[in-house]
Amino acid sequence: MTHQDPPIFISFGNRKGGVGKTTSVINLASYLAILGKKILIIDTDPQANCSSILLQNYGDREKYSLVDALESPENNNMLLSTIACSTFHPRIQIIPNSTRCMLWERKISQETDAVLGIRKLVEQDPGLNEFDFVLFDTPPNLGVMMNNALMSTDYVIIPIPPSDQFSLDGLAAYLDLIAGIRKHNSQLKLLAVLITKYDPDWGNSAQNLNQIKKYFSQRGICIFNTHIRNCPEIDMAHVERKTIFESAPDSYGANDYASLGREVLEIFNVLYGKRFI
Ligand SMILES: Nc1ncnc2c1ncn2[C@@H]1O[C@H](COP(=O)(O)OP(=O)(O)O)[C@@H](O)[C@H]1O
Ligand SMILES: [Mg+2]
Repeated sequence: MTHQDPPIFISFGNRKGGVGKTTSVINLASYLAILGKKILIIDTDPQANCSSILLQNYGDREKYSLVDALESPENNNMLLSTIACSTFHPRIQIIPNSTRCMLWERKISQETDAVLGIRKLVEQDPGLNEFDFVLFDTPPNLGVMMNNALMSTDYVIIPIPPSDQFSLDGLAAYLDLIAGIRKHNSQLKLLAVLITKYDPDWGNSAQNLNQIKKYFSQRGICIFNTHIRNCPEIDMAHVERKTIFESAPDSYGANDYASLGREVLEIFNVLYGKRFI
């Protein structure tokens, strides 16, 4: 892929928290960067977990956050590509978030173009073409920031832990939101569901996984072949503020996120004609 091409925008979303959105953004980004891809992460979750783990200088979070760009879209010094912050990896940059974003959401929510903020920032920023992928981490709700991310997204990945009934219960509403946004963003496609925190030894695991497979196959939605297994080292990596590849490179988690990275690139090779080799 040449760097004249626009990046591919991927959102990790599920209206439920704790399903592995942030973990997947961090570790997929990390593996793609290891393979030489250039990644921008946009943290649209005001809880800012992704920012707190990846930022090289934690203080950057208050200096250059997404909300500052959203509040001054006409300011050329606040382009996303200009304010992108360094992370531990030279090929990953991040637009951090902060709790101030919640105030912005409340202020903007009544305005008709409330969901277009990020899209406008993306459209006016040719500097984003230096990235291969832009990954959105999203909050656990269907509010303004989730809508903003989906309005700028080409592909959605939905992480689902089969052991979490509540994450399954909220799915229909999330699929409805994607269908609604597609009327305004015709690029938007559901790439696949990602099974996370999978523990084959857990009581109802096999049964729940079958239920999930049936639910999605009836709707013509793919599930990644790669399942991210339950892996205690992932929690430990977060405590250390590291990716799984730095913290426990021999763990299931590192193995599974590497496998996911290869699977994602293979899918895009097909979709874009070998562009990622
Ligand atoms: N594969 C996994 N194995 C074990 N724990 C995991 C795994 N994936 C995520 N976790 C843990 O689950 C919790 C929620 O994950 P997170 O990525 O923050 O979810 P979300 O962003 O959807 O809220 C975190 O404590 C994280 O460390
Ligand atoms: Mg999260």
